[in-house]
Order: sequence, then C-alpha cells, then structure tokens
Amino acid sequence: MIVHLNGRYLADRDASVSPFDRGFLFGDGVYEVVRAFDGELIEAGRHWRRLERSLREVRIAGEKFAAEQMSELALRLLEENGLKRGHAIVYLEITRGSATPRTHHFPPAGTAPTVFAYATPFAPFDGQRINGVPIILAPDERWGRCDIKSVNLLPNAMAKQAAVDAGAWETVFVRGGVVTEGTSSNLFAVIGGVLRTHPATHAILGGVTRDVVLETARASGLTVDETAFTVAELETAEEAFLTSTTNDVMPVVRVDATVIGSGEPGEIARRLGTLTAHS
Ligand SMILES: Cc1ncc(COP(=O)(O)O)c(C=O)c1O
Repeated sequence: MIVHLNGRYLADRDASVSPFDRGFLFGDGVYEVVRAFDGELIEAGRHWRRLERSLREVRIAGEKFAAEQMSELALRLLEENGLKRGHAIVYLEITRGSATPRTHHFPPAGTAPTVFAYATPFAPFDGQRINGVPIILAPDERWGRCDIKSVNLLPNAMAKQAAVDAGAWETVFVRGGVVTEGTSSNLFAVIGGVLRTHPATHAILGGVTRDVVLETARASGLTVDETAFTVAELETAEEAFLTSTTNDVMPVVRVDATVIGSGEPGEIARRLGTLTAHS
C-alpha cells in the first residue's frame, strides 16, 4: 500500500512516525474518513470543511490543509493504489506533531504537524442494510467536545468492542437520559411520524451523512425535528437508522432486547438510503 506521510508518498512499511508524536502520546490530533466511488471523492467539500473546523477548534494551524490540497492528496492516494474504480475510503489524520521533551502544553511554535493518510478498497455493507442491524446502548462517558473529530477515541473503541462482544452492529451512547449518537455513527428515529435526531451540539459529531440525510429528508417533504429523544421514545419508535460515511443509511431493527417497529428495515430508512446512495 502506498501511503502519504508529511508530503511524501511511500510504501506503508517504509512510513514511520516518531514515538514522540503527540498523536501517539496524547491522542492530540484530528482525522477524517472520506468515501470515493470510481475515483470521485464523495462530499469532499463537507469533509474538508469539518476537518478545517476540527483543526481550528484544537488550534492546529496550517494553510496547507486547505480543501483543494486535501482533495489532491486523497485523489493521488486513490491513483497510487489502483483505486480509481469501485468503492474506496481515504483516511486522513493530522496531529500536533512531535517534540521532546514530552509536555502537556503545546510544543514550540513552528513544530510541524504530522500528516498521515491512506486509501483502501471498501465493500459497502449491503447485506446488513437489507436486513437491518441490532444495536446496544451504553452510558456516554466521552468528553464534552464530541463535535471535534479527534483521534482520541478510547471510549468509542471500548463501546464498539462491547457491541462486537454482544453480537451487535453498533453501540449508541446515552447521556442524561437522551440518546446522543453511535461510536462512529449518528442515530435517527421516526417517532410519531417525525424524523428525529440529536441536534448538532458539542454532544455529538455533526456527521456529513447526517447533514445529507437531513437535507434529503426535508427536500422530500418529511417532517424533521433536530430534538434529542429518550431511550423510551427510541424503544417505541416506528423505525430507526444509523448514518455514517461507511454505513450510509443503516436500518436498526433491535435496540438491546427491544424490537424496533416491525423488526424489519423501515420505509423511511429505505427511501432515504436510495435517495442518498453513491452508486
Ligand atoms: C462519533 C461519530 N459520530 C458520527 C459519525 C458519522 O459521521 P460521518 O457521517 O461524517 O461519517 C462518525 C463517523 O466516524 C463518528 O465517529
């Protein structure tokens, strides 16, 4: 695999990052995951805008992270890895760079951020989408700035493993009695005919797919309400679905032991999935 590291394109086995990198020591960095189909990046503008915002919020500076350069980098990785046909994903991470000695406060001005990216083939989860997936709930023990796409993902990794252990597709977090989002996805529910999802506050990551689905739903005449819902509301919802760059629109048919709706993917999930499909 050819990866990108700090301006160079090289074989992954030849790419190395300092053990003093702040991404490694502190999880001090941000990232994006962008889908591609037939060599075209999907919703690149929204992803790079969110990356710019994440960088600004954590105060990692650099004009070189402009949208145009990020797209150029991602497209070059697709090219270098023979991924100009079919589905692929590009992962891109920027950390605050490496400096010794290790200090909690930022390294000296002028310390170069570390930029790492790779592209891999991607197989969409079509089988899961046809049948719908089970999810489990867990307390949201993350920090108060989940709107920043930080690489500091320990609570997400722990919660995702809990889903795997339970034979579920995703763990969805609950904070203060309301459902926030999944470990790497947003959650929607149809409650009393209204499409609901948690508002884009600091409590969730404002998903690119979430935004696309909200716009598509409104344009197709659905009633949409960005108001958080409780676990009890979710359990009695007509239907529910996850959204993310890799999941697209993924119907949820069970929450812990509770069957959602008819136990089959709902009509609204199916329709929004079709309207937002990439191929
Ligand atoms: C915590 C979290 N919420 C939501 C999402 C969905 O975001 P997107 O639709 O931009 O992939 C992700 C994606 O990885 C995520 O990590």
